[in-house]
Amino acid sequence: MIIPVKWTDEGVLMLDQRLLPTEEKWLVLRSYNEVADAIREMVVRGAPAIGISAAYGIALGMKQFVGTSIEDMEDELEFVADCMAQTRPTAVNLFWAIERMKKTFQKAKNEGKTITEIKQSLIEEAKKIHQEDIEAQEKIALYGGELIKDESTVLTHCNAGALATGGIWGTALGVIRGAKKQGKRVAVIADETRPYLQGARLTAWELMKDEIPVTLITDNMAGYMMRKGKVHAVVVGADRIAANGDTANKIGTYSLAVLAKENQIPFYVAAPLSTIDLNCPNGDAIPIEERNKREVTHIKDIQVAPEKIEVANPAFDVTPNEYISAIITEKGIAKQPYVETLKKLFD
Ligand code: MRU
Repeated sequence: MIIPVKWTDEGVLMLDQRLLPTEEKWLVLRSYNEVADAIREMVVRGAPAIGISAAYGIALGMKQFVGTSIEDMEDELEFVADCMAQTRPTAVNLFWAIERMKKTFQKAKNEGKTITEIKQSLIEEAKKIHQEDIEAQEKIALYGGELIKDESTVLTHCNAGALATGGIWGTALGVIRGAKKQGKRVAVIADETRPYLQGARLTAWELMKDEIPVTLITDNMAGYMMRKGKVHAVVVGADRIAANGDTANKIGTYSLAVLAKENQIPFYVAAPLSTIDLNCPNGDAIPIEERNKREVTHIKDIQVAPEKIEVANPAFDVTPNEYISAIITEKGIAKQPYVETLKKLFD
């Protein structure tokens, strides 16, 4: 059972995902700055896990607040929250979790709580965000599992597993785990997911740990596999889903969706409501993170491209809603027209 982030009295405990699959090392992050750096540098990654980590980072920052006035505490909270918000721009779970922590502070303040009590409320809220995420993933697994037929092979991209969430299930991998729990025989094809190799390093590791049959392919093999009839469904996670269903996810997801449509293969997105951004009208409004060019020119420390080569490294792309067969959430499964069905999930 994988839980990638944990709250402890010493600080925030994180499994260093940069080192997987060859090393399983846990870090103790003892300040909010260390948590922010860990999110930025991908010690932890995946939309729900980023949100949970930011909530713990804020709780930790405020636990270490040494002032004596609530006003100073509020200023400090704004500062720490801003520091978290600067880490990664695409996953909306980050901003969703920050808002929840700010609201918790305001509520505690309005109730006349002391500084010590507010600190405790923030720790409890962060733990609640974490627990609710695990529960949401379990429901996603249940609903999503129903969509997967017995004896199917599911292609997935990046890592939308326990490592990318509060733990245990995952979103896309949750659907696969859910199908397995329902007694179905499921195998997985995992895209390696260049440039950061979340598929090769993390999804392959996670599924092998759970003894779910998994075959690793390079990203450019997906079309071949689909055309050969080796893929029965594609299931991916999401970093942000706009109000019309357009979905930002790891770079390469859009290409898979187009290939899936061309080959009449269902293309499912699995994500909790914390990934749906109803304030974002469509995919064009989703900010796309551009990451360091070294991720493209190097694999680990090995240089694979000429020095000084121009590089583009958008970390995510947007799949237009018309390519998405269904969006699986903890409140049920949404289908077209997403503008209506996604909104309904929040009622
Ligand atoms: O850059 P990453 O590794 O944070 O990107 C992760 C993804 O794109 C995942 O598919 C997404 O966050 C969903 S995780 C349940």
